[in-house]
Amino acid sequence: MDESTMNKTVLEVGADGVGIITIVNPPLNLVSVDVFLSLKKSIEEAVQRDDIKALVITGSQGKFSAGADVTTFGKGIKARTDFGFLSIEFATDTLEAARKPIVAAIDGPAFGGGLEVALACHARISTSAAQLGLTELQYGILPGLGGTQRLPRLVGLPKALEMIMMSKRISGKDALKLGLVDAIAPRDTLLSTARQWALDISDYRKPWVVSLYKTDRLEPLSEARIILNLAKSQARERTPNLTHPLVCIDVIEEGIVAGPRTGLWKEAEALLQLRQSDTCKALVHFFFAQRATLKIPGITDMALSPRKINKVAILGGGLMGSGIATAFLLANYHVILKEVDHNLLLAGIGRVKANLRSHAKKGKMTKEKLETVSSLLEGVLDYDSFKDVDLVIEAVLEDVSLKQQVFADLEKYCPQHCIFASNTSSIDLNKIGENTTSQNRILGAHFFSPAQFMPLLEIVRTEWTSLQVLVDLLDVSKKIKKTAVVVGNCTGFAVNRMFFPFSQAATLLVERGADIYQIDQSITSFGMPMGPFRLADLVGFRVAVASGSQYIEKFKERVHKSYLIPFMLEDKREGQSTCKGFYLYDEKRKASPDPEIVKFVEKARRASQVTVDPKLSRLSAGEIVEMLFFPVVNEACRILAEGVAIRASDLDIASVLGRGFPAYRGGIIFWANFIGSKYICSRLEDWSRVYGKFFEPCPYLVEHAMKQIPLVMLSPLKDTLKTVDF
Ligand code: NAI
Repeated sequence: MDESTMNKTVLEVGADGVGIITIVNPPLNLVSVDVFLSLKKSIEEAVQRDDIKALVITGSQGKFSAGADVTTFGKGIKARTDFGFLSIEFATDTLEAARKPIVAAIDGPAFGGGLEVALACHARISTSAAQLGLTELQYGILPGLGGTQRLPRLVGLPKALEMIMMSKRISGKDALKLGLVDAIAPRDTLLSTARQWALDISDYRKPWVVSLYKTDRLEPLSEARIILNLAKSQARERTPNLTHPLVCIDVIEEGIVAGPRTGLWKEAEALLQLRQSDTCKALVHFFFAQRATLKIPGITDMALSPRKINKVAILGGGLMGSGIATAFLLANYHVILKEVDHNLLLAGIGRVKANLRSHAKKGKMTKEKLETVSSLLEGVLDYDSFKDVDLVIEAVLEDVSLKQQVFADLEKYCPQHCIFASNTSSIDLNKIGENTTSQNRILGAHFFSPAQFMPLLEIVRTEWTSLQVLVDLLDVSKKIKKTAVVVGNCTGFAVNRMFFPFSQAATLLVERGADIYQIDQSITSFGMPMGPFRLADLVGFRVAVASGSQYIEKFKERVHKSYLIPFMLEDKREGQSTCKGFYLYDEKRKASPDPEIVKFVEKARRASQVTVDPKLSRLSAGEIVEMLFFPVVNEACRILAEGVAIRASDLDIASVLGRGFPAYRGGIIFWANFIGSKYICSRLEDWSRVYGKFFEPCPYLVEHAMKQIPLVMLSPLKDTLKTVDF
């Protein structure tokens, strides 16, 4: 788009004396500094003109404004005209204190700074489908254009806190119920309704509301303090490593205790600090890394259209198969679920239906939708109904020969165009397809447990996978609401391969003297949803051993071979499913440490013939984090060096969305770069001298450490794709 038609506002005056100011910065009408300056100029001009009685602010192309430009976050503020100070100079003095009434006409998104412009207007009219939210906290900052002061005064403290703390987006319809908007209008009469509203204010037929000084919705001080204290303790519990949610609550509190104008100053100061914080930089990186996954060189730029996938078959109705089936049903696909016998089929269908019911129970789906979606599920015991299937996802047991047999069967019963995807956690896809001639339509569709919730889909291409098949699966991933990361084929692919050394390091440390529960505690304090031992219990030892064996076989020269889990399996401990693993589980699945575990640790120690290192029993939480995550970084470097991942930021997304690495640390590579490759490499070298090859840094990491450069791709993407189509 021509620069002259962007980044500005346009003022037009109608015969009724209402000036319409339109924000023009497509596609999302982001409010840049230039837009603010232009908006300020338009308002000042309109206030001066005798032919204008009232004003309406709206956005071009049916979008009010998606907020400030995220690329400017994480950077310092250069001038007083930049954000922060705009809160008082623009929103309060120019907009809210204007001598003529101003009404916001909202359609599409009104987020962050965009919504804050609307909050400073004297009334808001929206469509019912408009989306409104103060979403700044998700970027590590806080609403900085008066939102912390105005939203509580418009909707009351509890609702405002809920919206701000959770970066929650609500519809225009819900905004009306809260009092956030004054009226709803259909899209085609939105502007005329807003115009009339503005004229009514001007003629005193409707109230002229200045939200900054509204008091009727605000709780009395003593009550407000209780609500704020509760919000603080919830924030501490939910995100113990983050300070910006607490800063935001303090800013809101300041406005309530010392008055809104003092609150605005505190908001501006806080914004200035938070914009330069490491958390903000990490979250902004994460936002762009996620967007980058949509563009895959050599695939999405090839002008291929996805084919329509109507019927999907899932092989295996166990933990993964039932979750995957649920994800497809929720996206309205016709799903066939195949099992090996009647009882297992019933159990599988039961799991899918329970997943769907729980979705409806949480209010995410109506009863009618639950019925419609359930009717799309068909359970089968043979391949008879596979003749018109478009996509198969295999989720049978992690067993090479079983998977080989299944793929050979699929080739016999499915149509020529059908895509064959495997959900294997670790088996090389070329091995799986060995007994077929369909290599060009085989790929990995690696879901994470629970598959109906986990947002990541790791798509694994082999050297034979056709581009068309990749494009098809990428399209499907959008429909089932997953973020897809495309990676190359190898044992464990990117996510499991990267994190295998994490659990290996944990058992290595335990065998040499570290404490299981202290390791888990240190890892959760760092921000992971659970520690390696609690996770092993959840996944189940049989699955862990099956996928681990692939990794051990492939990388035998550098893995740490532990006897700990095999010994526990011998004693019929399988993890949470047997109520006994590294932890003991009660009937409510509550985990508690098990004193008997020492017995297995000692046995494993004897079998491995290792001696206890007293230093390891005194490790600090920080040292434990380093000893578990630096090997992950090391493996991530190998993945980058081999071209298994397209770009470093994909590994950030994979670590956050697939393994729960904290997004506020930016992902595994961003975090590693923050710490510095030189330090990581030197620590790994130290440990490898004492504990062996497992910790030895790979050449890619060594090279980056020597050059002291960030861990990003040195070599361009390996072009392993064949463009064979069928
Ligand atoms: P599971 O043991 O819960 O389910 C496997 C199911 O496959 C069983 O119900 C079995 O009866 C069925 N099955 C066996 N042969 C079959 C055939 N020929 N046709 C149809 N069904 C057949 O196993 P789970 O955990 O669901 O794992 C399945 C696959 O997903 C494995 O390859 C595993 O490595 C992978 N995976 C597992 C994850 C996990 O967290 N459990 C995560 C990601 C992938």
